[in-house]
Amino acid sequence: MAEAEVGDDVFGEDPTVNALQEKAAELLGKEAAIFVPSGTMANQVAIRAQTHHGDEIIADKNCHTFNYEAGAVAALCGVLVHTIEGKRGILKVQQIKEAIRPDDYHFPPTRLICLENTHNRGGGSVYPLKEIVKIRQLAEETGLLMHLDGARLFNASVASGIEAKEYARYFDSVSFCVSKGLGCPVGSIVAGSAKLIEMVRRYRKMFGGGMRQAGILAAAGIYALDHNISRLKEDHDNAKKLAKALHAIKGVAITPEEVETNIVNFDVTETGMSAELVTNRLKPYGVLMLGISQTRIRAVTHLDVNGEDIDQAIDRIQHVLA
Ligand SMILES: Cc1ncc(COP(=O)(O)O)c(C=O)c1O
Repeated sequence: MAEAEVGDDVFGEDPTVNALQEKAAELLGKEAAIFVPSGTMANQVAIRAQTHHGDEIIADKNCHTFNYEAGAVAALCGVLVHTIEGKRGILKVQQIKEAIRPDDYHFPPTRLICLENTHNRGGGSVYPLKEIVKIRQLAEETGLLMHLDGARLFNASVASGIEAKEYARYFDSVSFCVSKGLGCPVGSIVAGSAKLIEMVRRYRKMFGGGMRQAGILAAAGIYALDHNISRLKEDHDNAKKLAKALHAIKGVAITPEEVETNIVNFDVTETGMSAELVTNRLKPYGVLMLGISQTRIRAVTHLDVNGEDIDQAIDRIQHVLA
């Protein structure tokens, strides 16, 4: 990062940012890609560039865009979100079909389908490609666009053995984060057609995401794409190990077979403690987890956590829950 060649990326003159964008576009099999500061901005600029105010988008009820982006989809994109409840975040084509509005001036026009792969609140669930293919077919029949919130797309790819490019080809826009599991301090990508990415560039500027000598960040992104994709398997193995051990702890509810990638969600109702109490008690032991409801906790494995760390975390969780 310190040695990165830089320029002014707002003028498109940062060679390292340009190299990352080309690499990302190539990886996803898209014409163009653009570097943005966060996964949230990646989703928002992609949605904004493909919708008009008053349009409706279809998404899972627990998706990130609807729940965790500070209402940006309403405030910045001006669209309604027609939410449907998927199973662990995975929507079926028939559910989407039923949510598409009839062509009648009483209704908001349905414009875009937004899927999340892997699904965060769904516990890192991997979208079955077969379902995506069917949803794409429906989108084509009904003239809808598709956006993939692929914040953890490479986790899905490593877990399923399906290339990121293969997932991406069914979407008009695809985002992914070089932060999170890929290990960078900052950054996300949006990829799509060259025309779409030019629109996205305008909204990135509007939303305050145009950065100047961003090559220092893009250099980390390039490193991550070169070195940190295949190793995601280690995170998945560690997550599975953690899930199995949690399953053996009295009072913890978890289905270890559902852990497909690097996210481990579990419930502590039967321990008589709240998620907040458990996470607060774990914090001084260096075990950082997130309460995602009154009783549910999310743990995420990543490149700074190895197998021995998992063993230690398990000991400390046992101690706190005993
Ligand atoms: C599925 C998904 N999309 C988007 C984001 C947003 O990423 P960021 O935190 O970089 O804004 C997250 C963050 O957790 C996420 O899980």
